Amino acid sequence: MSDLTETEGLARAKINLALDVLHRREDGYHELSMITQTVGLRDTLSLRPSEGRKHRLILTGPSGAALPADDRNLALAAVRHFLRRAGREDLFFEVTLDKRIPVCAGLGGGSADAAAVLRALRDLLEPELPDETLLEWALELGSDVPCCFKGGTLLAQGRGERLTALAPLPPCHIVLCKPPVSVSTGEAFALLDRTKFRCRPDIPRLREALARGSLREAARYFYNVFEEPITHRHRILADIRGELLHHQALGVVMSGSGPTMLAVYADAENAKAAYDALRLDFAETYLCEPES
Ligand code: C5P
Repeated sequence: MSDLTETEGLARAKINLALDVLHRREDGYHELSMITQTVGLRDTLSLRPSEGRKHRLILTGPSGAALPADDRNLALAAVRHFLRRAGREDLFFEVTLDKRIPVCAGLGGGSADAAAVLRALRDLLEPELPDETLLEWALELGSDVPCCFKGGTLLAQGRGERLTALAPLPPCHIVLCKPPVSVSTGEAFALLDRTKFRCRPDIPRLREALARGSLREAARYFYNVFEEPITHRHRILADIRGELLHHQALGVVMSGSGPTMLAVYADAENAKAAYDALRLDFAETYLCEPES
């Protein structure tokens, strides 16, 4: 144990530029097609080998208080899962998670933490383990964990685990705004099962726009099938959309199963003005940029 040192991990949020739900599968999950983008909104983790015979999670940061510090926390579940799959259940860790990504937001915060834990423990304990193996372990933890593990701009299909790297979203300024309403992922899928879709995203067109490096054109194809039914329940999302557009957003869309709304701006001043305006009413408003 004494030769193991402390290790650190960075967990980055993801946004969905497009999200389509194709059908409900036999296994109860839904077949998805979505385009995801990593952004520079981060949690930081440190993992320290512990002399005790128990894992321990210490939560800090502005979103830390909103989370359980037990096995329901995906960071701790990922520690246990990695050690079980790697046959190292003799080891115990103290994990400190500085939580900045808002919780239950549609930004993959918990999945990003789990992915960062897998990476950090691989580097510490099993540096030879290939990404393919970790991607399998990632899916066992949750549908969004593989995409957070891989990062960048991705087409994610299946449950979210069939990943294809895409051309990146061109440099831009992104405003994220999460109102204080909660939407569980399971609930959002159940709501969708009862909804007749009027529109769907044109994912091939969005891919083409990204390949051409055109931010303006890409932003025109942002669309998420969850947005309409969730907005129907929570009208505040329509107000946020209006405010984001008022400051010249090129595109606005809800991320994941919500409720975070995101907008993309070519101009830093417009993004800052939208951020400042929304921040007055919504504490969980952020300004960030896309990352590879
Ligand atoms: O995989 P994960 O545990 O993150 O999924 C949470 C819930 O979201 C699932 O229990 C399921 O209800 C729903 N889900 C789904 N289809 C997917 C991903 C998630 O129905 N592709």
